[in-house]
Amino acid sequence: MDHFLYRDGVLHAENVPLTEIARAVGTPFYCYSTATLVRHFRLFDEALAGTEHLVCYAMKAASNQAILRTLAGLGAGMDVVSGGEYLRARAAGVPGERIVFSGVGKTRDEMRLALEGGIRQFNVESEPEMRALSEEAVSLGVVAPITVRVNPDVDAKTHAKIATGKSENKFGIPISRARAVYAEAAALPGLEVIGIDVHIGSQLTELEPFRQAYQKVADLTEKLRAEGHDIRRLDLGGGLGIPYTRSNEAPPLPTEYGALIRETLGHLGCEIEIEPGRLVAGNAGILVSKVIYVKEGEGRDFLILDAAMNDLIRPAMYDAHHDIIPVVEPAPGVEQSAYDVVGPVCESGDTFAKGRMLPPLREDDLVAFRSAGAYGAVMSSEYNTRPLIPEVLVNGRDFAVIRARPTFDEMINRDTIPEWL
Ligand code: LLP
Repeated sequence: MDHFLYRDGVLHAENVPLTEIARAVGTPFYCYSTATLVRHFRLFDEALAGTEHLVCYAMKAASNQAILRTLAGLGAGMDVVSGGEYLRARAAGVPGERIVFSGVGKTRDEMRLALEGGIRQFNVESEPEMRALSEEAVSLGVVAPITVRVNPDVDAKTHAKIATGKSENKFGIPISRARAVYAEAAALPGLEVIGIDVHIGSQLTELEPFRQAYQKVADLTEKLRAEGHDIRRLDLGGGLGIPYTRSNEAPPLPTEYGALIRETLGHLGCEIEIEPGRLVAGNAGILVSKVIYVKEGEGRDFLILDAAMNDLIRPAMYDAHHDIIPVVEPAPGVEQSAYDVVGPVCESGDTFAKGRMLPPLREDDLVAFRSAGAYGAVMSSEYNTRPLIPEVLVNGRDFAVIRARPTFDEMINRDTIPEWL
């Protein structure tokens, strides 16, 4: 459920007509709904009620300061994967003890940043990283709390580019080697082993892969405890999928996911962390764009929008589907026709959808891409010297620009000319 609905014939974000925002900020733009963000965060929090837990929002999904602040105000922790994300989370008011540091290639600089600034735990992913972290902690006179990310070799049944839990993926250490790695970690002077971490992929639409992974983690917890490790925290990653089409998709609900966690791991008495990104932000954001031209091709019509692959790369990168709907509600029963929906970037890959059935659209009409709140704005670029598009946050009847569109001068002046030119 989200808060982007037609009212009086116009698509609204909560109580604000998107036509009003388009007039104020120009197109294209991202628009987020506070109520949807809050609701989705709370679904996870409530799904784990009764179990000691922390929901660490995977801020890679959407990391605007205003979004982070909204979630931090609800008690969210953050899952960060870079020094930049760590600083962003801190700038949004998230204390270090609510930040977990994930990622397969943390640099020593990033480790120091978090060790000095305060961190809940590092999820380490390899022996060399573990040794480096121990050295950095010792040199700062501190001890780094860690979990080891294990790779359970489970098929997450999702897009190959976002599956992370198979042995061929670069993530985690093979679960078969976990006991040896934990033994080494426990012996390193700068580390304190506190738990286990696992994340098998993103946009999972079934619970079964989670079940397989969590059962393996339960098993490993018991083995490691028997070997004397004080395993008291389990970080279960993110990955729960969202419906990208209104019609036929029904991924498991956070409540069902919470029940699965209790069923597979509840008996261990561990504190539970989860790192959802997409489900918190995905359906809390849309991308609004304007039709520049409708072009008749051979056997097809192209809808050329002012948004492009640089603004929303998911269709080009993962063949992802985003529902596209007109901002002005079409008359009931109006005849639809097929459009290839494209952007202005000079690549054929700049195609959002092929043969998409849409009501008749004309120049200057507004359309909205649904489910664009996660991995939308954060993955955008300035390719073709197209400015990063504004982000707008709606809260009831209020809206605010939370990231402004840069001017062309700002963009151009970021380059510097060497003295010899
Ligand atoms: N934790 C870790 C360690 C992760 O690598 C990820 C996502 C998450 C949590 C959050 O997963 P989520 O709940 O959002 O599924 N750009 C891709 C998605 C990449 C996901 C990367 N890791 C897309 O647009 O589909």
